[in-house]
Amino acid sequence: MRVLVTGSAGFIGSHLVDRLVADGHEVVGVDDLSSGSNVRDDVELWEMDVADPALLDRVAAFAPDAACHLAAQVSVRVSVGDPARDARVNVLGTANVLEAVRRAGGRKVVFTSSCAVYGVPDALPVPADAPLRPASPYAASKTSGEVYCGMYRALHGLDYTVLTLANVYGPRQTPEGEAGVVSIFTDALLAGRPTRVFGDGTQTRDYVYVGDVVDAFARAVGPDGGGERLNVGTGRQTTDRELHALVAAAVGAPDDPEFAPPRLGDLPAMAVDPARTRAALGWTASVELRDGLARTAEWARERAAVRPA
Ligand SMILES: NC(=O)c1ccc[n+]([C@@H]2O[C@H](COP(=O)([O-])OP(=O)(O)OC[C@H]3O[C@@H](n4cnc5c(N)ncnc54)[C@H](O)[C@@H]3O)[C@@H](O)[C@H]2O)c1
Repeated sequence: MRVLVTGSAGFIGSHLVDRLVADGHEVVGVDDLSSGSNVRDDVELWEMDVADPALLDRVAAFAPDAACHLAAQVSVRVSVGDPARDARVNVLGTANVLEAVRRAGGRKVVFTSSCAVYGVPDALPVPADAPLRPASPYAASKTSGEVYCGMYRALHGLDYTVLTLANVYGPRQTPEGEAGVVSIFTDALLAGRPTRVFGDGTQTRDYVYVGDVVDAFARAVGPDGGGERLNVGTGRQTTDRELHALVAAAVGAPDDPEFAPPRLGDLPAMAVDPARTRAALGWTASVELRDGLARTAEWARERAAVRPA
């Protein structure tokens, strides 16, 4: 089928393009290259802002069956400092993509949400039907995108699946992302620089390997999971201190972080329950954290050899 991928040059989007091309789909990417830089010569890229009205005519000409919408302002910190910029990209951009796909006669949009929408949850791992309590402009704009998807389905019959991602890690990640801590620890430990854990090291996150994440997207572009929010995570919590030890082992460096005061606004714990995703898409995370971190360290080592810091 023909699939539009926004944010195609980014960390997750570029892996998704690779997967969809390998699966035999015809793919077109959209990216303004503001943070992403992973571009394939053999895949058409429209270098543009997802909120640009000119997207409508281009999408109409391509007539995609489905779109995976990953382009976003991805930083919680940036969203707090400049909420209007966050909303412009994440709310207006999402409205523009939905409208473009609808006008083009597309069947479905797969929307990329974040476990940040759950805020401080009542229970862990968070089920996919938990209430949304966005606690940052970024989480609010992702929540708004989910609401737009539901509204487009009710108003126009455009199908959607919301994929609510936990903390994604793997090759091509940059230190700025939500799960940038893996790439921060990996790069620092490879270079022999000191590493810092904020707080007492007991804060937890749910780390899911990028190859598993794009497998969920590849399944969701089909008819399954229509009209649903599906969590993409392992359901397991890893503490910051455990993560540091695992990355140090993957890199072959000493496990000796410094400790710094906790950062204001950091959630104490997060993990998402993938039960509904298994039922709807037959998806489950298959890469163990230890193995995924080893692959990430290998990629970072090769990149450092090519581009010394
Ligand atoms: N990495 C994670 O752990 C994680 C967790 C939850 C959700 N997400 C979501 O997954 C998606 C992909 O994130 P990522 O980690 O690959 O980040 P990324 O920054 O690598 O990818 C985002 C891509 O979008 C592009 N982009 C940004 N603004 C744009 C605009 N206005 N127009 C066109 N393109 C634009 C960037 O150039 C980049 O290539 C995002 O929607 C993000 O919110 C990521």
